[in-house]
Amino acid sequence: MSSAVVTGAAGGLGRAMVRRLAEDGPVLAVDLSEAVEDVAADLVDEGFDVRAVRADLTQPEGITAVVLEADRVRLLVNNAGITRDARLVKMERQHFDAVLAVNLGAVFELTSALVPSMEDGGSVVSISSRAYLGNFGQFNYAMSKGAVVGLTRALSLQLAPRIRANAIAPGLIETPMAQAIPDEILERMIGAIPMGRMGTPDDIAEAVAWLGDGERSGYVTGHVLVVGGGRSLSR
Ligand SMILES: NC(=O)c1ccc[n+]([C@@H]2O[C@H](COP(=O)([O-])OP(=O)(O)OC[C@H]3O[C@@H](n4cnc5c(N)ncnc54)[C@H](O)[C@@H]3O)[C@@H](O)[C@H]2O)c1
Repeated sequence: MSSAVVTGAAGGLGRAMVRRLAEDGPVLAVDLSEAVEDVAADLVDEGFDVRAVRADLTQPEGITAVVLEADRVRLLVNNAGITRDARLVKMERQHFDAVLAVNLGAVFELTSALVPSMEDGGSVVSISSRAYLGNFGQFNYAMSKGAVVGLTRALSLQLAPRIRANAIAPGLIETPMAQAIPDEILERMIGAIPMGRMGTPDDIAEAVAWLGDGERSGYVTGHVLVVGGGRSLSR
């Protein structure tokens, strides 16, 4: 049976994606962190077909490790991502490079490596962020997530009609990252969301599952799906 590959699978959103996609078929869970082994083991205990690969996707060996383990891929979810926030003048070169390497370089490398052998009708879903529109103090992050949108658009043109390529731009999602925001600021941020709440990892996982399923979203490609509770182009 064809499988889904999810990167950043040990993270807040990645875990929810692996669980949701495991309901549809085998999943290869990829992460730099050894916690990915537990993510897979817990789901195997529940009867799902989930395997784990530890890989640093910024390194050629990491990309090769995923390619060797991946089998009949129908869905690639480029979800691994990092932040190293700073204002422009305080941005250190190493933080700039690190964010671009994971959020953009790894997406390009893994997609290039897996797409040739992907099944016809397959789908690439890359996780951008609503921050691609610009976020204070997130110069490198916003830039990387905007580049993911450009990459997705270009990819969709090149791969159609064999494979679709879409991006998801999550808004504020209930993850450890959001829990670290001071209460007062968080309340203000939630106040700006028309739906009146943060998104959940399951909200994003469900969007991934839909975009990954050619039966349900087969005419959608080159699209950026903002899953942000109605807060899209406004600040
Ligand atoms: N959480 C949010 O509110 C939010 C909002 C918008 C977009 N996003 C995006 O969603 C994605 C997932 O975010 P999250 O909140 O789950 O983050 P997270 O930090 O919980 O998870 C990210 C995972 O990526 C892995 N990773 C980092 N560098 C890697 C590398 N070089 N190779 C392999 N794996 C690596 C980490 O080990 C981690 O498990 C990211 O791309 C993030 O930018 C998140």
